[in-house]
Amino acid sequence: MNPAIDPRALFNLSYGVYIVSSAWEGKKNGQIINALMQLTSSPICVATCLHKENYTTELVEKSGRFTVSVLEEKVPLKFIGTFGFRCGREIDKFANCQFEIEEGGLPLVTEYALSGIELKVLSVVDVFTHKLFIAQVEKAQVLKEGTPLTYANYHSIKKGKSPANAPSSVFNQIK
Ligand SMILES: Cc1cc2nc3c(=O)[nH]c(=O)nc-3n(C[C@H](O)[C@H](O)[C@H](O)COP(=O)(O)O)c2cc1C
Repeated sequence: MNPAIDPRALFNLSYGVYIVSSAWEGKKNGQIINALMQLTSSPICVATCLHKENYTTELVEKSGRFTVSVLEEKVPLKFIGTFGFRCGREIDKFANCQFEIEEGGLPLVTEYALSGIELKVLSVVDVFTHKLFIAQVEKAQVLKEGTPLTYANYHSIKKGKSPANAPSSVFNQIK
């Protein structure tokens, strides 16, 4: 790594922990992300950054639509493990979790989720290993009251790690 870059400086950035889900031609999948932020308020747009090798990325690119589930602090590490450390090309991540099918066949994970958001992709930007999706919110609902899990608490309370495909995987080196 470039010696001018101390990864601990980036660790002070704040994020939440979410599941991005999508579907294409009858196949559905989802993955954990922390790289998501709201960009504008009228219309409401967000950006999320997904690794090029992830199955979810393929489904989002093909369908041009995805959902976001905002995870609560109570979410077990095992649940995050299924969506964040396994690939949907090998397992059916929806086999043992609660979800709804939204308009157009889009899956929305409702288990351990405080909010559900549906989006359509406006543009895709190549960012080396990842693709940045800029998307407009089409529907947003509060599923239940609770405390959202922050990325900082994922590390400090849950002692979670970041897998290689997460933009923040560099932080594993500094713990
Ligand atoms: C806490 C956490 C944060 C993550 N953040 C991202 C992210 O922002 N972008 C990304 O592409 N992958 C991220 N990942 C990694 C993906 O969830 C992981 O590579 C997943 O297995 C991809 O699944 P898929 O191939 O079924 O789509 C994160 C994982 C964890 C546990």
